[in-house]
Amino acid sequence: MTDLTRFGVSIEAALLARFDRYIRERQYKNRSEALRDLIREALVEEEWEKDENIAGGIAYVYDHHQVQLVNNLLQVQHDFHDLVVSSQHVHLDHDNCLEIVVVKGSAIKVGALYHRLKAMKGIKHIDILKTTTGYHLK
Ligand code: NI
Repeated sequence: MTDLTRFGVSIEAALLARFDRYIRERQYKNRSEALRDLIREALVEEEWEKDENIAGGIAYVYDHHQVQLVNNLLQVQHDFHDLVVSSQHVHLDHDNCLEIVVVKGSAIKVGALYHRLKAMKGIKHIDILKTTTGYHLK
């Protein structure tokens, strides 16, 4: 890491004690590293809020015996082909499938894809991973 800047932080003792416990439990070597991570998390959250170019993933579990659902899932992925980088299909057992779709592009459009999938009947569980292209976190 280059171009490091040091700065002072005023903080209540009790709050700092809690923070130190927080970073110890997460096995950070020092406060600086923990603080850098928290700052990056806030900035990535802001990238999503401000509809910047983001990267992420959407994972969902469904029963593949529902033929119409399988067709609809494929259709939705094609409808959002400009966002979908790749998708991985895992046969969890005889009935259940896990699909993980990697996405990159407008945060608002990825949100729309997520909600379109979430609203589909037959999806047992769905979750979204909000991360970053890393471009602004150099
Ligand atoms: Ni499957």
